[in-house]
Amino acid sequence: MLFEEKPQISESEITAAMDFAVAQTRRCLPEFTEKFKKAYSEHDFYQPTENVDWTTGFWTGQIWLSYEETGKECFKRAGEIQIESFLNRIENKIEVDHHDMGFLYSPSCVAGYKLTGNENGKKAAILAADQLIRRFHPVGEFIQAWGPMDAPENYRLIIDCLLNLPLLYWASEETGDAKYRDIAEKHIHTAVANVIREDHSTWHTFFFDMETGAPDHGATCQGYRDGSAWARGQAWGIYGMALAYRYTGREEYIQKFRDVTAFFLEHLPADLVPFWDLEFTDGDDEPRDSSSAAIAACGMLEMARYLGEEEAKEYRALAGRLVKALYDFYAVRDETQSNGLVLHSTYSNHSPYNTCNHYGVDECNIWGDYFYMEALMRLKKDWNPYW
Ligand code: GLY
Repeated sequence: MLFEEKPQISESEITAAMDFAVAQTRRCLPEFTEKFKKAYSEHDFYQPTENVDWTTGFWTGQIWLSYEETGKECFKRAGEIQIESFLNRIENKIEVDHHDMGFLYSPSCVAGYKLTGNENGKKAAILAADQLIRRFHPVGEFIQAWGPMDAPENYRLIIDCLLNLPLLYWASEETGDAKYRDIAEKHIHTAVANVIREDHSTWHTFFFDMETGAPDHGATCQGYRDGSAWARGQAWGIYGMALAYRYTGREEYIQKFRDVTAFFLEHLPADLVPFWDLEFTDGDDEPRDSSSAAIAACGMLEMARYLGEEEAKEYRALAGRLVKALYDFYAVRDETQSNGLVLHSTYSNHSPYNTCNHYGVDECNIWGDYFYMEALMRLKKDWNPYW
C-alpha cells in the first residue's frame, strides 16, 4: 500500500489514546513519584529506579503532559516532588558528567516552570544548562557527548545532542545571558555540517581532530554498522532539524529537515514503524524501534508550525499516519499487559559491528512512551513545547 493511502489517526482515536495514557500515568504514580521509571521495561513492565540515568526526565515529562491534559492536582504534586529530585541531582552533581542535560531537564524542570511557575524547576534547569556548556570544545566548536573531556576516544559529538540544545536557548531567554545560545548555535552548525551524509542518512557519532578541531570521521555506537542509519539517530535528526530551524531561523535547515525526513520515510517497512536500524526492512528477523516513529512524528509536527500551509498539512498527515500505526499495532491496550504506553522499542542492540550490549530490546522505552504522548498532545492542540 502506498504511504498516502495509509490511514491517519482520527480525532476520536487521539482522544482514546490520550485518555489511556493519562490513566496509565495516574495508575503508576504511587510506585513512581519518589522513584522514577527505568529507561526500559523488563517483560513490558518498568521497575523503579533512583534519579541517576539520562532518561528519568521523560517520566516526569509524561506526568507534566498528564497535568497539562487534565489540570489534576495529583499530577502537579508528583511533578513538583520530581523537580526537587532534579534540583538535588544537579546541585550535588549526581551522574551529570555527560551531555544529556536537555533530555533530563527540559521535559521535567523547564516543563514544570513553564506550566506552573515552579522556581526550583527554573533554578535546576539553569544549573543544568551551566553544566552542559562546560562540555563545549571551542576548538572543534561542539559539545562533547560522553566521558572525560580530555580522552581522545571521547572527542566526538552525537546526533542525539540536538535535543539537548533547547535547554540552552531557554537558559539564554531566562537569564538574558547570550553565552548559552552562542554555544548551542555553534554546536548545531558543527553537527549539521558533519552528521548528515550525502544520501541524507545520518551518522550517530562524529569524531574531530583534537588539535585542529577539524572533522575526522563518523562512527556508529548504537546502530548496526558504521555506514548504516540507526533508526533513532535518524529520528533525532528529524526532530533536531525542526528545533534547529525554530531556534536559529536558518533557511537551509528547512531543506535539511526535508532531506533527513525523506530518508527515514523511504526506509520504513509496510506498517510504518522502523526496525532498529534503517538497514533492515520487512522480512528481516530484527527488532523494531517504535520510539523512533514517535520521535519522528513529533519532529514533523514541530516543523509543520513553521512551514507554508500546504507543506505543513503534508507533514501533519505523515505524523498522523505514524501515530496511527503506533496506536493500532504497538500501543499498550490494557494495564495487565504493561505499565508503559508503547511496546516493541529498542534501546541498545548488539550487532557484529557495534560495541553495544543488549538491553531494552523489544521492550517499552521511557522516551518512546513520552514522545508518543507528546505527539498525541501535538495532534490535539497547538502545543507550547517543553523543548
Ligand atoms: N540518546 C540515547 C538514545 O537515544 O538511546
